[in-house]
This record gives sequence, C-alpha cells and structure tokens, in this order.
Amino acid sequence: MDKIRIRGGKALRGKVEISGSKNAALPVLIASLLTEKKCHFRRVPNLQDIRTTLKVLSHLGVSLGSESSLNQNQVELTAAIPASSDGFHEAPYDLVRTMRASVLVLGPLLARFGRAKVSLPGGCAIGARPINYHLFGLERLGAEIALEGGYVIARAKKLQGAKIVFEFPSVGATENVMMAAALARGESILENCAREPEIVDLARALRAMGLQIEGEGTETIRIQGRDSLNGCTHEIIGDRIEAGTFLAAGLGSGGSVEVMGIAPEFLEAVLVKFEEAGATVERKPDSIVITANGRPKATDIITQPYPGFPTDMQAQFMTVMTIAEGTSVITENIFENRFMHVPELSRLGAEITIRGNNAMVRGQAGLVGAPLMATDLRASASLVLGGLFARGETIVNRIYHLDRGYERMEEKLAGLGADIERIR
Ligand code: EPZ
Repeated sequence: MDKIRIRGGKALRGKVEISGSKNAALPVLIASLLTEKKCHFRRVPNLQDIRTTLKVLSHLGVSLGSESSLNQNQVELTAAIPASSDGFHEAPYDLVRTMRASVLVLGPLLARFGRAKVSLPGGCAIGARPINYHLFGLERLGAEIALEGGYVIARAKKLQGAKIVFEFPSVGATENVMMAAALARGESILENCAREPEIVDLARALRAMGLQIEGEGTETIRIQGRDSLNGCTHEIIGDRIEAGTFLAAGLGSGGSVEVMGIAPEFLEAVLVKFEEAGATVERKPDSIVITANGRPKATDIITQPYPGFPTDMQAQFMTVMTIAEGTSVITENIFENRFMHVPELSRLGAEITIRGNNAMVRGQAGLVGAPLMATDLRASASLVLGGLFARGETIVNRIYHLDRGYERMEEKLAGLGADIERIR
C-alpha cells in the first residue's frame, strides 16, 4: 500500500493547476444514462472514484468511446443499453459499497427504463448517510420503491412531474431527483434544493442535453421533463475543495500560493475565513492567490450547506488552526462522525478537544512530524497538511483514501516546493 513521506517546515510558493471537480464529475458522468446518444466530457479528473463510476456505468452496459482517456482527462460515454432480461438494470453491492455516489444511477435508470435495482450503500466512515431523501423525491415522481435483500428496487410505468419539497438540501438527493425529473412527464418543481456549484454544473450538462431547466444554484429548480435527451459535450468545473486544500497549504506553511482554474465565488465562505485568519486573499477571474502574513490567527468555523462553509474543507481548516495563535472552535453540522483526523493530528502535537459536534483547537507554536494513518478522503488531506506544517518527517499511511479525490497531490505539492514523495 502506498504511503506519503513529507519533510515539513517549508513555505510553499508558486502556482498550481486545479483539476476538474470530482463531485461535479460523478453525477455528470452518470447523467449519460439518460440518453442513448454519445456524451463527451472534458476536464474529468483521473481519480479512483471516477474509475469506480466508469466501472458501474460499464456494468450497466454503457460503452466507453475511443476518445476516452483519463490520462488526458476526457471521457466519451454512450448508454445505448438494451432492456435487460428481467427489465431491471442493477448496480450491485460490490460496486456501490466502494463508492456511495453510485446510488445516483437510481434516478436516471428508473426514469429511462422504468425499473432499477441498486444496492443500499450502507454507512461509511464519516456518518450513517441514509438515502431517504433520494427515495422520497423519486416516490413523489410516482416510483414504487421496495427494499429487499439490501437492495432498493424501484419501479414506475412513466414518472410524472411533481412538486417536491426536500426536508434538507441534500446534494445527492437533489442530483438524483433532477436526473429522474428530466425524463418525467410534465413539469417538476424541486424546492429546498442543494445550491452547490456541483448542482449548477449538472444542470448545465442536462441543459446541453436539451433539457429545459431553470433555477439551479437557488433553492427552487424547475424542470420540463422530456421523452428523450440528446448527447452533449460538457467541460467539468474546477474542484473547489482541491483548490481550498492548496490554499490552506499556502497559508499554514507561511507561503504564497496561486490556485489556477477555479472561480473564486465557489469558495467565498472559505476565503473569508482565510482572511479572518490573517491571510491576504486576491480573487482573480479564474484563480485565487493566498499569502500568509505570519502565523495564522484563531478563527471559528461552522460547516453548512452551500453557500456556507463546506464540510469538505473542515478537516483542512482545522489543521491550519492547530498552529494558529489562540483557540478556535470548529463546528461540524453536516456529518455526525467527521472528526476522525483529530486523534491523528494530536500525534503531531495538536491540542484538540471534542465535545459533540464541536472541536476546540488550541493553537500551538509548532507541530512535530510523526507516522499517521489516513481514515477518509478529506481527513487524509488534513494529515498531509499537518505533515507539511510540522518539523521533521511525517509518514501518512493508507493514502488510497487520498487517491479517491486528489489528482497527483504529492506532485502538485512538490511543484510548490514541498519536500514530499510517494513511497510505493
Ligand atoms: C455530497 O455528499 C458530497 N459527495 C460529499 O463529498 C459532501 O461532503 C456532501 O455532499 C456535503 O457537501 C458527492 O458529491 C459525491 P448530502 P452527499 O446528501 O450527496 C444526510 C467528499 O469528501 N442525508 O448533502 O452524500 C447525510 O447523512 C464527500 O468529497 C440524509 O439524512 O451529501 C448528511 O448528514 C464526502 N438522507 C447530510 O444529509 C438523505 O437521503 C448531507 O448529505 C441524504 C442525506
């Protein structure tokens, strides 16, 4: 199993190119199930979660076109899928359990074929993560849903447009139901939707496929369902969480970093907090520059749905706070178990006390390198940051978590002057 070795304490300086967004790419690739025509996607990040998505799609009968090359960040998909023998298209447990986002195939399969069988994803390291809001939305569109043998079995003759008010602005539920409503009869009005940039990107891809959709990025999305959709060419947006992670690296290391290929408005809630922590932040049309001004200052954060502070940046921000002047309080409101990086950061000398969903971080003058174990994707990123900020050597073990969501992270950090290498 690969590890990462870091010799910390260097100020990072320079520019880094941000990859396409993982969490935008996953639903957008899955949306190719809505049409039998060819869909061409660009700026697809070359990541483990993308390879898993392609495996799920290929299991469902989607073919990968000749122009597909993840090394060149391109994928061409054609879902000219014949009806299966029992009418069900199935996403099996073995694939879904490795990546929960596979559950997003439910909406498009059901809408297009009238039947779908998708394994229940089960819990994961950061929380229970049920899919009740997804199922509620699909039922409102007329699906009959049964849970049998660990599978969601969904049936509908033809989905019917409906008004759906989500109990919570869930990212996945909004995406699943948007895709289902695309092939439903008549108009759907989705309320209390997630407003994340990844939702906006999915709407753009669906629009490129010929769908009439409006309101994405606000809490109400209106969709005029169609009998069929066209193929599309679509470029994925930049990854705001990867960008935020590199900005945190620039600030915590006492350097100056420019992240290229990212719209600053996607990260506004995070940029304001970096400024509160003492950084100078320059917002350019398609890039962001962060410059540290000495040691960071303690800053409280509360994670919230977009446009609030993203839960996917909580662990990385906490690592910056471990070396800040003063005490900060970090409140995690989205997932119930997203402090798993805390005991590992403590191994570097961080002082953090957890009470319920609050973590109190007493900033230290410095951290000292140590061997660490990565537990989930963003936790892993926070440990790499810890290693960069600490004196001496840090080894981060189990970095397959990191490979699920960061493209060539160690190469990109080395490009900014970090002393970091992957040990195979
Ligand atoms: C997406 O997960 C992202 N994943 C997550 O990124 C991100 O942390 C999360 O949104 C919040 O921003 C992808 O886009 C693939 P939710 P998702 O549905 O869609 C509860 C990363 O590190 N909930 O908005 O699963 C749920 O348990 C990852 O890249 C229900 O109770 O998030 C959670 O507490 C991790 N019932 C909260 O809502 C439901 O039916 C938010 O979940 C659905 C969700």
